Amino acid sequence: MPTIDLGIVGASGRGGSFQMALDAYNDVRVSAVCDINLYDDDIEEAAAALGATETYRDYNAMLVQHDLDAVLIGTPVQHHVTQAIGALDRDIHVLSEVPTSVGIGESRDLVRAVENSDATYMMAENYVYMWSNQAVQELVDRGLFGEPYYAEGEYLHELKDLHERTPWRRVWGSDRNGITYPTHSLGPILQWWQDDRVERVTCAGSGYHHRDPRGEKYGMEDGCVMLAETERDRLIKIRFDTLSDRPHAMDNYQMQGTEGAYESARSRDEPDRIWLSDMETADRSHDYEWHDLGDVTTNYGIEPWGDALDSAHEAGHGGGDFFVVKTFLDSIIAGEKPPIGIHEAMDMTLPGLATLESMRNDGEWVPVPDSREW
Ligand SMILES: NC(=O)c1ccc[n+]([C@@H]2O[C@H](COP(=O)([O-])OP(=O)(O)OC[C@H]3O[C@@H](n4cnc5c(N)ncnc54)[C@H](O)[C@@H]3O)[C@@H](O)[C@H]2O)c1
Repeated sequence: MPTIDLGIVGASGRGGSFQMALDAYNDVRVSAVCDINLYDDDIEEAAAALGATETYRDYNAMLVQHDLDAVLIGTPVQHHVTQAIGALDRDIHVLSEVPTSVGIGESRDLVRAVENSDATYMMAENYVYMWSNQAVQELVDRGLFGEPYYAEGEYLHELKDLHERTPWRRVWGSDRNGITYPTHSLGPILQWWQDDRVERVTCAGSGYHHRDPRGEKYGMEDGCVMLAETERDRLIKIRFDTLSDRPHAMDNYQMQGTEGAYESARSRDEPDRIWLSDMETADRSHDYEWHDLGDVTTNYGIEPWGDALDSAHEAGHGGGDFFVVKTFLDSIIAGEKPPIGIHEAMDMTLPGLATLESMRNDGEWVPVPDSREW
């Protein structure tokens, strides 16, 4: 088995947090790390934790001077496209943090670079791989929801303090009005509906009820809600809020089909709930009782994570990071298309970018480009 030489950029931040997930695999080694962080210790600490021998301040120097097979991009969102293109142009595989891009124009540049490269591009959308989302996917694949026609996702995560500590978020995350971080909410839904993509969106906001520590208004309204229509005439509702004071709830999902309904747990004390017409017996016809998703998967003999259960739980983000790394490495080694390749990644990102235009135009419905046609 060849060993994949990986470089991590943004290693003192999110990039370094993949350490547990990477440690689970023998076929990858982190040979170089890069971060512009001003504090020497941080990059040295990240290098030591990840087992890297080389440290860089300059990303392009890492690409040019080090013989890498792949890079993991864990930098702020505005760098994702240029850094991904830098690697792809050298046929270096890319695992990029979410979202793919911050604008439609640069999204086109990225798609072109992926198409002109011999390397693999994958977006590290980890919520797709959470246990419950994988369990629902398996039930959808088995047809147990009948024809799914409605879904919801919510990312409610009060980040006002983090917007200050990571100032790029204050610009790219809370000064643009719309859904700037859509992939955790939309990603799992689009993986459940693999035959579909969002065709058009509208978006509305709940107004401006918070100020930053300098008393300045955020450019983004505190709660933004997107309605999305898909090519197969399904409806999706996404709620995004990083400003309102409230407990976190980043992985809320719902789905409705002709034969089943699903609601993820609203709190840690509750189970994820599911109703399937297939589970009703003749004498309990249509009593519409919820069942615990865990019990239902056992009943149907579904084991979403198989024997990776313990390692996945340890790796962070509800197991998501473990499977993001696994599927990326598997795709490179097998020379196959990754599950969240460039077009799937664009399907999860572009609807959010289209909401920015919808918000500028009073909530008008805006078409979402299909990157396959670029
Ligand atoms: N998938 C998830 O669950 C998840 C969670 C957190 C963050 N993220 C994503 O990860 C990325 C980083 O987020 P974060 O919270 O770690 O941010 P952060 O600001 O805490 O860390 C980013 C790191 O990148 C470094 N950096 C910035 N510009 C650089 C450049 N040009 N070259 C090299 N290094 C550079 C910074 O010094 C910093 O150490 C974002 O894209 C964010 O959306 C994803």
